[in-house]
Amino acid sequence: MTSYAKPDVRTTPVTYTAFDHLHFYVGNAAQAAAYYITRFGFAPLAYRGLETGSRSILTHVVRQGDITLAFSSALTPDNAAMARHLATHGDGVHDVAFRVDDATAAYEAAVAAGGLDVGLSPPKTLTDEHGAVTVATIRAGWTDTTHTFVQRAAYTGAFLPGYRDARAAGGGGGAKAAGGVAPAAAGGDPLVTLVGVPGLGVIDHVVSNHADGDMERVVAWYERVLGWHRFWSVDDKQMHTEYSALRSVVVADPDEAIKMPINEPASGRRVSQIQEYLDYYGGAGVQHVALRTTDILRAVSTLRDRGVTFITVPDTYYEDLRRRLGVEAGKPGGVSVAEDLTALQALGVLVDFDETGYLLQIFTKPVGERPTLFLEIIQRAGNQGFGVGNFKSLFEAIEREQASRNNL
Ligand SMILES: [Fe+2]
Repeated sequence: MTSYAKPDVRTTPVTYTAFDHLHFYVGNAAQAAAYYITRFGFAPLAYRGLETGSRSILTHVVRQGDITLAFSSALTPDNAAMARHLATHGDGVHDVAFRVDDATAAYEAAVAAGGLDVGLSPPKTLTDEHGAVTVATIRAGWTDTTHTFVQRAAYTGAFLPGYRDARAAGGGGGAKAAGGVAPAAAGGDPLVTLVGVPGLGVIDHVVSNHADGDMERVVAWYERVLGWHRFWSVDDKQMHTEYSALRSVVVADPDEAIKMPINEPASGRRVSQIQEYLDYYGGAGVQHVALRTTDILRAVSTLRDRGVTFITVPDTYYEDLRRRLGVEAGKPGGVSVAEDLTALQALGVLVDFDETGYLLQIFTKPVGERPTLFLEIIQRAGNQGFGVGNFKSLFEAIEREQASRNNL
């Protein structure tokens, strides 16, 4: 495992502040949004469709904390691009959007560094009564996924111009308050009063999988085209089980506000879980999205109450963890975990730690129809890593799932 120092010299004029949103192409946007609302506690945020003058694409947008997810489906039979995306990939993340201070500069810098074929949608400024947003989209250095730069400092609307605000009860996608009990702040979702909100705050990282041999090329693309740098990496000697292995390099923007791990499979005795993803997604794409919370016990407890299913690890994981933390406690300045280990074990939350601190994480089972995208819930206490200490036990758990699909 390697951590890299932040470079002294900025190689891009652009300031990135966060993941702005993730845009999914799905078979049924209304039902996909409803899944994230009911299972994950998101609230309706915005809507576009026939009622708003969007004649060919329907989009439902949901939000929790500063996590914004948009789900789009074709409204008409002749939308070849969305039909092809859906047939190839199934439901998946089509666009990973970054919030920037200057979308025009970001687009021009990317095209200047990466060539004209990087540019997909040149900068345009969208306006409505809430202000202006400038957006521009590039092809990511890999297959069908795109990146949109979003400059929204001057905008006070719900999502983007062209969308209707769905935050008030009765807005597009917002359930009417049952018996008048659902608060408007939650988009009128009546489940809020029944099971509560998980309290997920921000997108911590977005991971993509790539074909064997492509990882270095993709990392170089982020360095050259966006002016990002290597943040962290791990090789297949550290990330392997008896059956499969992978390599990963995490790239980050100059201020390290956005982190994107780039994975590739390494050869093993059986089909790598990364290869299983590639086979079912039809190539490279977003494998998992990590959502950060400041209270993972509450978050996971609430998500379980809402019916989210997680990968499970055996009790031996916690026996080993208690032993390792006991050794740690004997060291001067050793890391100690504030949360109750019994509570973490009851919820299936994993712990990783090193001298910088610890992190708590848990992974859902695939959220769609194919064994492709899944979500991670993460809480950080000093540790800025990605849970390398959990990879082996986690991968073995994932392999049990993979074997149950007859794909190992
Ligand atoms: Fe992760």
